[in-house]
Amino acid sequence: MANPGNARQMEQEGDRPEGTAAGGPIIERVHGAAELVPESPQRREFTDRVSNRADFERMPEEYRADCEIGGRHLYVSNWVLTAPNADDIWRMSRIAAEEVDHFRKINKLLKIIGSSADDRLWVDREERYVDAFKSEMPSWADIAVFGMLIDRVGEYQLDEFMDSSFEPLNQMLPPVLAEEKGHVSFGIQKAKDLIGQGRKDELQAAIDRWYPEALDMFGSATSKRVAKYIKWGLKRRTNEEARIAYKAESDAVLRELGLEIPEVAGKLQYAAG
Ligand SMILES: [Fe+2]
Ligand SMILES: [Fe+2]
Repeated sequence: MANPGNARQMEQEGDRPEGTAAGGPIIERVHGAAELVPESPQRREFTDRVSNRADFERMPEEYRADCEIGGRHLYVSNWVLTAPNADDIWRMSRIAAEEVDHFRKINKLLKIIGSSADDRLWVDREERYVDAFKSEMPSWADIAVFGMLIDRVGEYQLDEFMDSSFEPLNQMLPPVLAEEKGHVSFGIQKAKDLIGQGRKDELQAAIDRWYPEALDMFGSATSKRVAKYIKWGLKRRTNEEARIAYKAESDAVLRELGLEIPEVAGKLQYAAG
């Protein structure tokens, strides 16, 4: 996925002083957002376009502070050499390269607005902004599920920024989004492989670990900041709207594979439940 300093991160950090945000991104998506959230005067009331540093500096302080991005995630570092076969090693290597490229591209955007994520090139796991990236990656089943569920969150988050008010982001997004979809497909294919190998229980255990994390990654259900992102044309829908759409899509994938939808009552920190 595209390593979001995500909405959740921003919620956790509250209204930090402008210019000091450590991880808010810019990356949040959604399937069918345009259809699900009709345009209205309240949404998209901000119609200016921000194309360069000069435009950016004319924006409200708050818009500028929110244009930050978290560090890349390096989950692939454990698996480039140890995936089960040559095909998977090749694919993991490629995903690793794509994720590094996503970091490069986002860092270039940050530099347009006078910021930088250079100091996030290497971040110890426990210091990463996004909880999912702090976790251990103990099994190949986790890799499959990470693709299926967590990269799908990244895909949603990226899609949320399609046609945003920040033009350089619009230009950067399409190829990154296409690669992210490839990571999701890889995860699904690896899940199918595991099922075919009689390892469904292992797969289900990994789903049970990651599913609540994925839902929480959309951030607070009661976020006030999201209203501003929508107003500024940075996002299209609220955290909860995106989470509901994501859950419906993910649940359909799990059902199709004959897997259980995990019970999340009492396990979610940010989702409405
Ligand atoms: Fe990815
Ligand atoms: Fe990515």
